[in-house]
Amino acid sequence: MMDLAELKAPDVDRFPVRRAAAGAPHDALSREILELKRHLNAVILAHNYQVPEIQDLADFVGDSLGLSQQAAQTQADVIVFCGVHFMAETAKILNPGKIVVLPDKDAGCSLEEACPAHKLRALQATNPNFYTIAYINCSAEVKALSDVICTSSNAVQIVRAAPPDRDLLFVPDENLGAWVMEQTGRPMTLWQGSCYVHIEWTHASIVRIRTEHPGAPLVAHPECTRAVRMLADEVCSTEKMVGFCKRTPAKTIIIATEAGMLHRLKRECPDKQFIAAPTENCRCNECKYMKLNTLEKLADCLSALEPRIELSDDLIARARLPIERMLEISARPIAAAA
Ligand code: 13P
Ligand code: SF4
Repeated sequence: MMDLAELKAPDVDRFPVRRAAAGAPHDALSREILELKRHLNAVILAHNYQVPEIQDLADFVGDSLGLSQQAAQTQADVIVFCGVHFMAETAKILNPGKIVVLPDKDAGCSLEEACPAHKLRALQATNPNFYTIAYINCSAEVKALSDVICTSSNAVQIVRAAPPDRDLLFVPDENLGAWVMEQTGRPMTLWQGSCYVHIEWTHASIVRIRTEHPGAPLVAHPECTRAVRMLADEVCSTEKMVGFCKRTPAKTIIIATEAGMLHRLKRECPDKQFIAAPTENCRCNECKYMKLNTLEKLADCLSALEPRIELSDDLIARARLPIERMLEISARPIAAAA
């Protein structure tokens, strides 16, 4: 373990902060990032939607659950989170003593924006029997107001484990919530939020692509609308998509999720062909927040150890409990999770 005080002043002469637009060649930049990473005893965690060049040099690439499990276990002194803000916040909550940096501090999420803490508090006040399940795509304040956190990978397991005598309130994704209700049969009050990317696929755009590729299964993320989920052969988190695509005998698979996923899938299944499901009116299958992170900004944030995630001790303590509850339930064998 390094002394954190040493890390506050990285070797600025050896590793100068570059301007993000400088545009050094990718492999030179990648080598510099890896050298910095070793020097700082840092770990690079990247979400499946990150640009290919970031995925290719990360220590771990995965979905929100896998990334929080990695953050909970890491021995590194510095966590470089290549994803969006709520993901880096989760890593900080699980590692209050470590430095957590995010290449672009503006990497937000439309779901996080849809659920401000004060509005959630007001709704909770209307029913003291609410048991709040928060999708991990929310702020630390919202996590602190919740009983348990879930991701798209474990949402069904988390809802099945919820106390049977409580009224379930699911925030902030109404589409994921509706899908979990279909899977579990458990009624829930759903917060009216959505992912601005995943609601772009429509029944018509999916029917068109399925007609063009009649033998190809369709895999969709549960943040998609019901009209799209109904047409899918598999609805699952980004990590479970990798498992499905490896298992299926099909050689061509249609993918309805953010475009970055295709790079991960091509790496994992080089013998298969992946088709990005088209959205209705635009090429909107790229998350503008996820794509704010670039290799240049990653190099800059490792050099400067900024932008850093900072949260108060009180907020960390309150937000940590529901995250730890999620990690504990996720570690149970599926049959025992209820
Ligand atoms: P996953 O946890 O399935 O990777 O989803 C994260 C996300 O932000 C989907 O839009
Ligand atoms: Fe949020 Fe949607 Fe982007 Fe995922 S793809 S980070 S849910 S805006």
